[in-house]
Amino acid sequence: MAQNWTPTSWRQKPIQQVPEYPDLAALAATEERLAKFPPLVFAGEARRLKASLANVAEGKGFLLQGGDCAESFAEHGADTIRDFFRAFLQMAVVLTFGAQQPVVKVGRIAGQFAKPRSSNIEKQGDVSLPSYRGDIINGIEFTEEARIPNPERQIMAYRQSAATLNLLRAFAMGGYANLDNVHQWMLGFVKDSPQAERYRKLADRISETMDFMKAIGITPETNPNLRETDFFTSHEALLLGYEQALTRVDSTSGDWYATSGHMIWIGDRTRQAHHAHIEYCRGIKNPLGLKCGPSLTGDGLLELIDLLNPSNEAGRLTLICRFGHDKVADNLPKLIRAVEREGKKVVWSCDPMHGNTITLNNYKTRPFERILSEVESFFQIHRAEGTHPGGIHIEMTGNDVTECTGGARALSGDDLADRYHTHCDPRLNADQALELAFLLAERMKGGRDEKRMVVNG
Ligand code: PEP
Ligand code: CO
Repeated sequence: MAQNWTPTSWRQKPIQQVPEYPDLAALAATEERLAKFPPLVFAGEARRLKASLANVAEGKGFLLQGGDCAESFAEHGADTIRDFFRAFLQMAVVLTFGAQQPVVKVGRIAGQFAKPRSSNIEKQGDVSLPSYRGDIINGIEFTEEARIPNPERQIMAYRQSAATLNLLRAFAMGGYANLDNVHQWMLGFVKDSPQAERYRKLADRISETMDFMKAIGITPETNPNLRETDFFTSHEALLLGYEQALTRVDSTSGDWYATSGHMIWIGDRTRQAHHAHIEYCRGIKNPLGLKCGPSLTGDGLLELIDLLNPSNEAGRLTLICRFGHDKVADNLPKLIRAVEREGKKVVWSCDPMHGNTITLNNYKTRPFERILSEVESFFQIHRAEGTHPGGIHIEMTGNDVTECTGGARALSGDDLADRYHTHCDPRLNADQALELAFLLAERMKGGRDEKRMVVNG
């Protein structure tokens, strides 16, 4: 076990982004209740994800991580979850074909409720109120009452996570993810989108392959890999009282695990060495993500890696790089070189969302071409450094929202008002997410051909 660590040792450390609960006794009572609730995920599942990520760290797989910026209580419905899962599966299929490698699927879902904020205060006109911090903490409505942190919301978030996870498990294991359904995953609005034809062609090729496999006796009935899929959950471990309450000892290994989700990550605003969030995460055995923004230096990163992964275990740590399209070239190479120099085993993932947010017509948005540009640079830099571009981390939904501009339908600043539903940051809609997957698949195919040329040439 990590030295001098307990599930509560983070409480002795400096901490950022803490909500001001007016009733601390009520907060403590809620945390005690949560501590008695069943775990949401199991240690064995987290270990399985870690093993898959270890393959990615070794260049033998690709991580697809995505979902809402912030899940909301108001939008908790079966259709929303299904639409997300379907769009995500479509992306995964496209990427698997492009990479010719296993795609590890990790949702930002079933627990992604707490949000770090740049400012403690939100101002509208002459009125200033405490910022919204995610449905697990306070309400999004711009009223004094809604913005007071309420511990009861943690119970609601736990229950919503359990219900969401239940449906996701059914989708992943109960036949929906059967590759025979690859044509049926076409969403209503994606069906007549610019991506539809590309996707249909790919689905045809998969069906043809399936028919061939069936002819030689490999069917979804006999082979679970064709009818089921591994799907994991993740969220930012921001609200540490909640995380602590769901931290449990695994009876088989005697190790501590966060049971609020399979993978948890540390945000760019809370990754100070020896502060509370790093302290909590270093002691649990789940796979971890670490957001790496422009303020992180090579030495700073190495210090965090030593704290979070002292035994240099592959699959333990995913570095989620989020610099911005115009900053990635200045920042990523030095981090890669520091990690390579010290022989650290990590998964390199690209979050092309959080460094590319702008304001347009009073809406927070992200231009699709900047998102693409950061992803392209990420791939190119890894190719140049000889390292594996191991994954992407995106904010997306399965619905037809208008939150990011651009893409094949060329959404403009004037379109944003139509269907702008996010509770926090702007998300790719299903169409844009699928477009991104196709472009990524092309890059990966390019990388494979290049490698082959090197090997054969
Ligand atoms: C997020 O992933 O929603 C987020 C707040 O990211 P970051 O910590 O990278 O800003
Ligand atoms: Co976000």
